[in-house]
Amino acid sequence: MKIRLSILGATGSVGGSAVSLVEAYPEVFSVAALAAGKNHRLLYSLIRRFRPRLAAVFSEREREALFKLFKEEGCKSPPQVETGDYGLELCALHPEADVVLSAVSGARGLVPAFAALRAGKKVALANKESLVMAGDLLGDRERALISPVDSEHSAIFQALGGTLETGPLRRILLTASGGPFRGYSPMRLKSVTLEEALSHPSWNMGRRITVDSATMLNKGFEVMEAHHLFKVPYERIQVLVHPESLVHSMLEYPDGSILAQLGPPDMRIAAAYALTAPKRLPLLEDLSGQGLRPLDFQRPLTFEEPDRLTFPALALAEEAGKKGGTLPAILNAADEEAVEAFLQGKIHFTLITRVLEESLSRLGGSPLNSLEDALEADKSAREYALSLMRKFES
Ligand SMILES: NC(=O)c1ccc[n+]([C@@H]2O[C@H](COP(=O)([O-])OP(=O)(O)OC[C@H]3O[C@@H](n4cnc5c(N)ncnc54)[C@H](OP(=O)(O)O)[C@@H]3O)[C@@H](O)[C@H]2O)c1
Repeated sequence: MKIRLSILGATGSVGGSAVSLVEAYPEVFSVAALAAGKNHRLLYSLIRRFRPRLAAVFSEREREALFKLFKEEGCKSPPQVETGDYGLELCALHPEADVVLSAVSGARGLVPAFAALRAGKKVALANKESLVMAGDLLGDRERALISPVDSEHSAIFQALGGTLETGPLRRILLTASGGPFRGYSPMRLKSVTLEEALSHPSWNMGRRITVDSATMLNKGFEVMEAHHLFKVPYERIQVLVHPESLVHSMLEYPDGSILAQLGPPDMRIAAAYALTAPKRLPLLEDLSGQGLRPLDFQRPLTFEEPDRLTFPALALAEEAGKKGGTLPAILNAADEEAVEAFLQGKIHFTLITRVLEESLSRLGGSPLNSLEDALEADKSAREYALSLMRKFES
């Protein structure tokens, strides 16, 4: 029996990893639904290849552009195409999907991921924002349906043999590359460019997560993600910088034993395991022509403490996670806006973290009792961050 997928964020970086797996293993996977944002051309080519029943795009504009392509190419049986949040949710709930890969970027991923989990669907979760914003709302039944895609959490999931249950452990050691500015002083950060921030030393990812890796906020989000996925208290999650990005995270047990997962930094490995766990696909054999190489043991493995002084976003996230409520949703929303402004050349790199600090301290948090609370906090934080950045500009 094939695993029928619904891929949310099919045109993105993680979505592309999933697409290459479906292409390499047509006997293992089929595609029931595909959701994208604005890249209607790439979505069109994916629809031609995989023939899903349902597709979703950002807005009516992309839907029209897609139908224009169907018409020009004489496509006889186009799929149903829906738009916006409604379209994403329909894809997440598609009755023919066995697994939903949630690889949309940003807060947009929250509602469809929770909709799928609440409907009892298995979710391969790349969209960490869902857990950052509303991990506290996750019940045990829903949690058990998640297979993590984020490489660090996949590493833990893999070390545990495909479960989220760690047993009594001493700590999780969450590894971090340190990003492109590892070793920089706060002074030197003041002159970094957009191009430098987008040059991640080991991973090839979407633009927002790449900038988040450069500020190290991404690692703070991953601490929250680990807390919610593995039900491990914050005090037992430690970030460890490992610039080679070959040890993807570790579990330390009270007897001194460490369980780790190592591998080349390639999201196809984590995505494949999330889709097929506890089974594994022979990726090294089948994807060698597409650049997947075995680990090179000639390289030394090094570890160091993160520099929280130069990268205060990490501590901000750890603090927001511990305090909980709507603070993590505020942090995420402020960051989405600040990173977008940075990508558009409107603010300097160091202002991203300042927007985060001021948004958290100005808005404070409130209790999180529902997804609506998280979405409300998200909206207020975006408004506040945007108004703050207008002040910076003037
Ligand atoms: N990339 C990685 O290696 C990696 C690793 C771990 C975790 N993650 C997480 O995975 C998620 C995706 O990251 P990514 O790097 O793959 O991002 P990405 O390359 O920027 O792709 C984002 C995807 O989401 C879609 N999208 C964006 N806004 C949307 C909207 N409003 N409605 C519908 N679709 C929308 C995009 O569509 P269009 O391009 O068509 O507009 C694209 O398909 C993030 O939560 C990230 O933190 C990524």
